[in-house]
Amino acid sequence: MPQPLPSSAPKACIIGFPARHSRSPLIHRFWLRQHAIAGDYGFAEVSPDDFPGFIRDLASNGYVGGNVTVPHKETAFGLVHDATATARALGAVNTLWFEDGRLMGDNTDVAGFLASLDADAPGWDARTPTATVLGAGGAARAVVYGLLARSVERIHIVNRTLARAQALAEHFGQLFSGRQIAGAGWDALPGLLPASSLLVNTTSMGMHGQPTLDVDPETLPETALVTDIVYVPLETPLLAAARQRGLRTVGGLGMLLHQAAPGFARWFGMTPVVSRALYDDVVADLLATTEGSKP
Ligand code: ATR
Repeated sequence: MPQPLPSSAPKACIIGFPARHSRSPLIHRFWLRQHAIAGDYGFAEVSPDDFPGFIRDLASNGYVGGNVTVPHKETAFGLVHDATATARALGAVNTLWFEDGRLMGDNTDVAGFLASLDADAPGWDARTPTATVLGAGGAARAVVYGLLARSVERIHIVNRTLARAQALAEHFGQLFSGRQIAGAGWDALPGLLPASSLLVNTTSMGMHGQPTLDVDPETLPETALVTDIVYVPLETPLLAAARQRGLRTVGGLGMLLHQAAPGFARWFGMTPVVSRALYDDVVADLLATTEGSKP
């Protein structure tokens, strides 16, 4: 029988609406067990109306911090006392913790995206003068900022709604003057692929139960890297087509695992490693709980 935790044990949670589908508790509990840390990480399903109150009472309810997911990331940014430069550039936070009793915010999706590529495609950034990013939502924001932080020269943001792609390009164009960042509609994609060293899907297309992305990797350069932030299924149709063409691919699960590490370090006092054992644990859960997510 597991021993009950002492009341002083650090406790964090994933705050979302919904939150129950999240794999964050699985990830953090894996690391807590691995390092024999007396702490916990749970679910907090909190509606938008209740979110500000939940954040106000976070510490008095015994939490040392938590993760924030859809639809609360922008609201959370407005509620923190201070935020990292990354979170400020994105206007969204996904990780909360306290410093001297004050609520702090970071956006670790950026570090998670970059760490995942670094782990699975080392040296990718030196080979990426031009990237094409599909989508212009919150996930695209994190990806584009990460690419800019790694000195990618030219970024095309391609989106169904052209105005959103253009707005995102303008936002980052102001932050990174001198770089070439342009928004485009889907019809421009075939013309952009032959010069794209990196293709990133940040839309939900290709996700289990969602429409498939209509992108043919055939015209990408043969040295191109293709990555997808979708991780259910582990290999999306886009990644499968790219692999069949002989291109390098990186799946989306690594980003999820790597974005979790900085929060764990802040709450529980040590930086955990994204290991094969953790990856396998989460994959086993995905396969057990999501029909059709087989790799
Ligand atoms: P997130 O914060 O997870 O990125 P989001 O802000 O809702 O979520 O953004 C979802 C992205 O996927 C958007 O770029 C969206 O395109 P629009 O801006 O045109 O809505 C894109 N997307 C989702 N479903 C799509 C579909 N069926 N076809 C094309 N794009 C789609």
